[in-house]
Amino acid sequence: MTDRYRTIIEPFRIHSVEPLRFLTEDERRVKVREAGYNLFNLHADDVLIDLLTDSGTGAMSRDQWAAIQHGDESYAGSPSWFVFLAAVQELFPFPHVIPTHQGRAAEKILFSAIAGPGNVVPNNTHFDTTRANVEYTGAEAIDLVIPEGHDPASDHPFKGNMDVEALEALLVEHGDDVPVVFVTITNNSGGGQPVSLENLRAVRTVCDRFAVPMFIDACRFAENAWFIKTREPGQTDRSVPDIVRDMAALADGMTMSAKKDPMANIGGWLALRDDALAERCRNLLILTEGFPTYGGLAGRDLEAIAQGLRECVDEHYLRYRIRSTAYLADALDRAGVPTVRPAGGHAVYLDARALLPHIEPTSYPGQSLAVALYEAGGIRGCEIGTVMFGQQPDGTERPAAMDLVRLAIPRRTYTQSHIDYVIEVVTDVASRAATLSPYRIVEQPAQLRHFTARFEPVR
Ligand SMILES: Cc1ncc(COP(=O)(O)O)c(C=O)c1O
Repeated sequence: MTDRYRTIIEPFRIHSVEPLRFLTEDERRVKVREAGYNLFNLHADDVLIDLLTDSGTGAMSRDQWAAIQHGDESYAGSPSWFVFLAAVQELFPFPHVIPTHQGRAAEKILFSAIAGPGNVVPNNTHFDTTRANVEYTGAEAIDLVIPEGHDPASDHPFKGNMDVEALEALLVEHGDDVPVVFVTITNNSGGGQPVSLENLRAVRTVCDRFAVPMFIDACRFAENAWFIKTREPGQTDRSVPDIVRDMAALADGMTMSAKKDPMANIGGWLALRDDALAERCRNLLILTEGFPTYGGLAGRDLEAIAQGLRECVDEHYLRYRIRSTAYLADALDRAGVPTVRPAGGHAVYLDARALLPHIEPTSYPGQSLAVALYEAGGIRGCEIGTVMFGQQPDGTERPAAMDLVRLAIPRRTYTQSHIDYVIEVVTDVASRAATLSPYRIVEQPAQLRHFTARFEPVR
């Protein structure tokens, strides 16, 4: 792999393929109307390029499928558990590792054990399930990303950083009510932007001063480490696993979804240092997930995750991964489509508020753009804006900080020509952005409404 040639070479050959189904634009208009204009309600066969999420949608490698054959399904003490444990601790040497069926189960267990009414949990930006699990306990979730993190046009290299001064001010006021400080790496809801080692150290120092534990939401730790390696002074010559271990060493624990960087289709874990807290969490695990040596997972899943953990810190893979995301973002930039800059690790975020200024945030510009991309080209993205974050615990609605459409890139799944097609469709839809409709919600649940709400266009 060389820097001499510019073409992105996928560091793999394709060995097994899945067919795509082509619908006409008229057929897609019917499908999305039937789905209540909510792309989560579509049949995935009706989607051509599925950029809804990078979660669990990656292509597993030959070696991951082979590892699955090694899966041992013993109820307790399975060899697959020890393979998993060793792979996790190789990168994240926490003494307690608690396997869960996905990241949100780790969140549910942790916050049930440490948070409740009157508590405040800061994060750079809570992911939607993290926020929901904090709020479900009665605690308040507060986002403290640096100001540049709210400015889609800012080119700050670590836009996911926590605003350390704001954190300090919060701890001065509410120190006793803060059971944990979270940092999400990379900052998914803030554009997939990385957090620097320097920022993690500064957060740690403040946490130490107030004797508050610090946890990382590490779903995209490998992508974050690659950004540290390529952007942070003094880190270029270090290996990715070393940088990951540095991030882990700064934290008291982590929540993790193995459906992201570890390239498994399911899985997650909670890891931590505190023995007493680990015991409380294990007791909760047994109630809903399973015995502590398998949690919510089959032995074969534990094996696939362990192998994926080895593959996701490979530098050839990470170079390809981050360059492919930037390829999409740079092409859209050249076409004049506003995106969150610089490109995130796992996704490109279209700035729907900037592209559709005629639509008020509470008429959901992100939803409008996401529906239009599906109708025009069968591309399924995900609104990350007022639909996802506007609903308040008291039932009122507030515009989110940004209205974005996330085009998440599944790992190792689409080729460069798929992405060239995406560029063509997005550019076409952007050229007629002024004609796109506002939307209103006709049906919604009390929480996490973006998954199931139904919409209609306001013509
Ligand atoms: C930053 C972040 N945290 C937590 C989660 C939850 O993980 P899971 O979907 O495995 O429950 C996600 C999933 O997208 C995420 O991106």
